[in-house]
Amino acid sequence: MRVLVVENYDEMSKKAASMVASQVILKPDSILGLATGDTPLGLYKELIRLYREQLVSFKEVKSFNLDEYLGLSKDNEQSYHYYMMENLFKHIDMNLENINIPDGMAENIEEECIRYEKKIAEACGIDMQVLGIGTNGHIGFNEPDIKFEAETHLVNLDEETIEVNSRFFQSIGEVPTQALSMGIKTIMHSKKVILLAYGIGKADAIAKTIRGKITPDLPASILQLHRDVTIIMDKAAASKL
Ligand code: F6R
Repeated sequence: MRVLVVENYDEMSKKAASMVASQVILKPDSILGLATGDTPLGLYKELIRLYREQLVSFKEVKSFNLDEYLGLSKDNEQSYHYYMMENLFKHIDMNLENINIPDGMAENIEEECIRYEKKIAEACGIDMQVLGIGTNGHIGFNEPDIKFEAETHLVNLDEETIEVNSRFFQSIGEVPTQALSMGIKTIMHSKKVILLAYGIGKADAIAKTIRGKITPDLPASILQLHRDVTIIMDKAAASKL
């Protein structure tokens, strides 16, 4: 594991963007794994800037997002489809056909998970996976007690996750209680992983991820076994290391 402690959110975002942009410059048809939430917003802003300055093009890139809420349509403002369009895709030259996000409205969820996993395999796996981390140590929506061998599947969200994510909704009752998420196995098969964390709220989870024992109680701890992980965090997130 490479652990980079930087001054602040801005520096974290810029470092992550240089890594993603380098990946795409070296391999223009890269397969990127993408995350949502607050953490990667600065990274996406920076990628948009690099694209506008013609330093990188995403024309041939394919992307697979980690997760999507069950029951939210693509045009629902709380859906991760909507988030990705607004915060990244509509500002860069991604081919919309190359964008993959689990379909939270699929009629048959089990089939949707199998389809998603198969599509990742057909693309020969993810070259670089961007991750955030939950206060409970989740990656994607792989909540504590996860089975490490899980592929893309339907998950029940933890109470803690529902509470933390309620900040994006009008009320806690509106937060979906289930989501489709890549599994730990899917994530572990990515060739490279970049995990981003900022703020004191992530300090415990980060300390356990890096120094704790590998346990399904802290899903991100499995990353200790990945061959190419870079964790970029600000000083606050690093404060319990
Ligand atoms: C998002 C995802 C989650 C978030 C995590 C941190 O696609 O899979 O694991 O990365 O919940 O969220 P933020 O960045 O909002 O603190």
